[in-house]
Amino acid sequence: MIAATRRGAVGAWWRSAVAYQIYPRSFCDSDGDGIGDLRGITSKLDHLQDLGVQVVWLSPVYASPQDDNGYDISDYRAIAPEYGTLADFDEMLAAMHARGMRLVMDLVVNHSSDEHVWFRQARSSRDNPFHDHYIWRDPKPDGAPPNNWEAAFNGSVWEWNEPTGEYYLHMFSRRQPDLNWESPALRQEVWALMRFWLDRGVDGFRMDVINMISKPWEADGRLPDAPVVRPGFLQPGFAMSCNGPRLMEFLREMRREVLDHYDTLTVGEAPMATVRQGREITDPRTGALDMLFQFEHMDLDSIPGDPRGKWALKPLHLPDLKRTMQRWQDALHGCGWNSLYLSNHDQPRPVSRFGCDEPAHRVGSARMLAIWLHAHQGTPYIYQGEEIGLPNTPFASIEDCRDIETLNMHRIAIGERGEDPAEVMAAIRAKGRDNARTPMPWSGTGPHAGFTRGTPWIDLHPHWREIHVERDRADPHGVFAMYRRLIALRRVHPVLAEGRCEGWALDHSRLAILSRSLGDELWLVACNFGGDTETFDLPEELALRAGTGWRWLAEPMALSHPAGAPDAHARLQGARLAPWEGRMLRLCRVPSS
Ligand code: GLC
Repeated sequence: MIAATRRGAVGAWWRSAVAYQIYPRSFCDSDGDGIGDLRGITSKLDHLQDLGVQVVWLSPVYASPQDDNGYDISDYRAIAPEYGTLADFDEMLAAMHARGMRLVMDLVVNHSSDEHVWFRQARSSRDNPFHDHYIWRDPKPDGAPPNNWEAAFNGSVWEWNEPTGEYYLHMFSRRQPDLNWESPALRQEVWALMRFWLDRGVDGFRMDVINMISKPWEADGRLPDAPVVRPGFLQPGFAMSCNGPRLMEFLREMRREVLDHYDTLTVGEAPMATVRQGREITDPRTGALDMLFQFEHMDLDSIPGDPRGKWALKPLHLPDLKRTMQRWQDALHGCGWNSLYLSNHDQPRPVSRFGCDEPAHRVGSARMLAIWLHAHQGTPYIYQGEEIGLPNTPFASIEDCRDIETLNMHRIAIGERGEDPAEVMAAIRAKGRDNARTPMPWSGTGPHAGFTRGTPWIDLHPHWREIHVERDRADPHGVFAMYRRLIALRRVHPVLAEGRCEGWALDHSRLAILSRSLGDELWLVACNFGGDTETFDLPEELALRAGTGWRWLAEPMALSHPAGAPDAHARLQGARLAPWEGRMLRLCRVPSS
């Protein structure tokens, strides 16, 4: 048994680790059916080993009707046939362990698939022993659903079930019924399936929308309507389903029953999480999970309160991004732990969103973003394709898209709400989840960049002949080389894992300046988030930390634009940063004379 006090303590293995997320459908296809699979993953582990990552987070590979690409699970102990078999899984896991990598599985237990045997039983009658595994409500007197909430993937969160004469709750698609965590029997099932994978050798879980498992209304059973922000339609109900009163109790029970008995990494996906909640959940003394995926820095380019949600675009204001990151840094330093991410299978590509994907700046800005993210304290997560600076896809029409969220939003926005089709497509190009789901371009040769010899389930990025793994890896100044360097630095320099992170010039709209400090070590990171040259100085407070009679000299540790002016990197006053340039510098004390 792993002592509870060890969890999260300084020195826990995941504090200096970097994780890499694999979206199996789009990673590598070994059998020619156009869908990535486990053997495909095993065949590409050298790529990850060269990158240096110590953890792999694998998006769901369980049996599933694939209504939401595997986030709708019909058997938690089986592998989907299109991904392979349990034997393939064991082989992949052994190959990862042999390379010193750990595997974190996706745990999707806020909801199951409607094809799970629990739900097939549960919906058959009110007396069925599995009925209580899900969340049911009677209709209103006129037969209407219990309230006006709209599901994340559109339509009501309530779906009628004829055999029992009730509605069931689904916060996502109607094929993803929410599980009832109030039921002790359901919780026992979840603990058992977690043990199944941990006993098989997996090293932890990424927990899907984990702060939705306790429903806020369960305390009194009332289901108030959400405020009307879009008259005549359903109303966003998502916020009403997060952070219920028993969340911490359920998570602590999970820790006691399961996690304390294994050496794991746990990261909870937590929409609407605040820093306060982040601290409560990740503080090893009181909490339950090692870290959270919070969303505050992902919501800054959407108009707050707009009923279109994430699709209501607004330009990103850099000070908002810096302040949000800094708030999480300040709140968790010394008492909890951050995850660091700019990208995953639900988000657009970071180089297009936060950097510049024009040919002249794509590689440079992707390298700068890598420096900036990895300069914060926390465990960085790299999403497949990010390590070669893959940009968003210019989807010409909705026929190019596959994602249930995107397809439903498009149908309802245009068909029911009469929104402008050109604007809807522009929002999809900017925010659609398929941006992150185009297959990995492994090489520049055809027909499908080494992803599959069959027909890919979704088209590759149209520029795959120019942007692919083989080419980027061969470039010493490519994106891959920068990630590899940053991962290696984190392993060798404790200041990157454990040092305090401070943000400077937070109001500056184009420059991001960070420092990291641990004992005598002081590092400085300066990044230009704009297309013009910018000048920066060492913040005065940091200059003073050198002490009387001393000054700082900069030793470059990671430079996004190594071909720039040869002496520029060492300057700390009046240094000029090229468009989209980032520098990570270690400061060394020298006598000031
Ligand atoms: C999480 C997943 C997303 C999925 C949703 C429902 O947000 O990351 O892909 O659609 O939960 O499971």
